Amino acid sequence: MIDRRTMLQVTLGGLAAAGFSIRPAYADLPKLEKKDKYKVGFAQTESNNPWRLAQTKSMKDEAEKRGWQLVYTDAAGSAAKQVADVRSMIAQKVDVILLAPREEKPLIPAVMEAKKAGIPLLLIDRNVDQSLAKGGEDYVAFIGSDFVKEGMQAAEALTAAVDGKAKIIELQGTVGSSPANDRMKGFADYIKDHPGMEIIASQSGDFARDKGRQVFETLYQAHPEATALYSHNDEMTMGAIAAMEAAGKVPGKDLIIASIDGTKDATQALLDGKVLVVVECNPKFGPAAFDAIEKYGNGETLEPRLVNVDRVFTKENAAEYMPEAY
Ligand code: AHR
Repeated sequence: MIDRRTMLQVTLGGLAAAGFSIRPAYADLPKLEKKDKYKVGFAQTESNNPWRLAQTKSMKDEAEKRGWQLVYTDAAGSAAKQVADVRSMIAQKVDVILLAPREEKPLIPAVMEAKKAGIPLLLIDRNVDQSLAKGGEDYVAFIGSDFVKEGMQAAEALTAAVDGKAKIIELQGTVGSSPANDRMKGFADYIKDHPGMEIIASQSGDFARDKGRQVFETLYQAHPEATALYSHNDEMTMGAIAAMEAAGKVPGKDLIIASIDGTKDATQALLDGKVLVVVECNPKFGPAAFDAIEKYGNGETLEPRLVNVDRVFTKENAAEYMPEAY
C-alpha cells in the first residue's frame, strides 16, 4: 500500500521529471546575505493618522531593539513620492525594503525596480495589484491583515445589530488602495444575502478624519433617511461622529456605526455607546516584519502571504483592549 507521504514524493518526483520545479520563481528573487545587523528601508505612505504613527513607531522600536539601521521615508500621501522614496533607498543600497504601498497599481514600478536592483522587498499592511506583481515571485512576501474578512466581520456585526435592516452610508478609504477595495468587497459580499441591508451612498474620505467629516456631512444631508454608517477606518468614523453630533443626531442611536482599526478614540467611542463594533487592523508590524527579514536572511522560504490574526472589539471587550490602543 502507498501512504500519503510516498504519494506526495512520487507526485513531486513526477513533476520534476516532467521539467517542473516547485515554486520556480522563488529562485529568481533577490537573496539576502546573512548578517548580524541589517540596513532596512521602511517606505511609509503618510503620517496623518494614529494608525500610521503607531505603525512607524513599531518599526522604529524594533530597529532600535535589534540595533539595526532604519532608513525611514514618509510619502506624505503621494504615491509618486513613495516610488521616489523607494528609488532613493535602492540608491542608498539598503539590504532590504519594507514597503507599505499607498495604492495598488502606482507602486508596481517600485516593486519591480527593487527586484531588478537585487534588493529583497516585503509588502507591509497594504498590497499591490496581484495581476501585475506576485508574492514569492516579484517581492518576497506580503505581511498584513485580511481586509476582505474585516469588511465581512463589520457587515456581520452590523447586520445582527439591526436585525438585517439598514440604510447604510459607506465611507471608503483611499481610492485605489487595497484596504479600500477589499473592505468594500468584503462588506458587499456579506450583505448581498441580506436584502434589507442597503448601501444608499458610498464615497471616499481618504482614510482621513476631516475628509471623513466633510464627506459624511454631504452624504447625510443628501440621505437623511440613513440609519447606519460603515466606515473603512476609525479616523473617518470620528470625523463622521463629529458631523452627526453637529447635526443634532445621536451616534449609536440615530445611526449604528461599524468601523475598522482600533484607535484610542474609537475604543472610547465603543465604551460611550457611540460605535457598535470596531474590527481590528493591527498596525504594530515591527516584530513580524523584522522576524521575516531575519528568516529570509537565514535562507528560509517565506510564505508569500503572511496574514495577521485580528480581533473584533465591542462595548463588552473595549475596556480590556484600551491599554493596547494607540
Ligand atoms: O492600510 C491600513 C489602513 O491604512 C488603516 O485601516 C488606516 O487607518 C490606514 O491609513
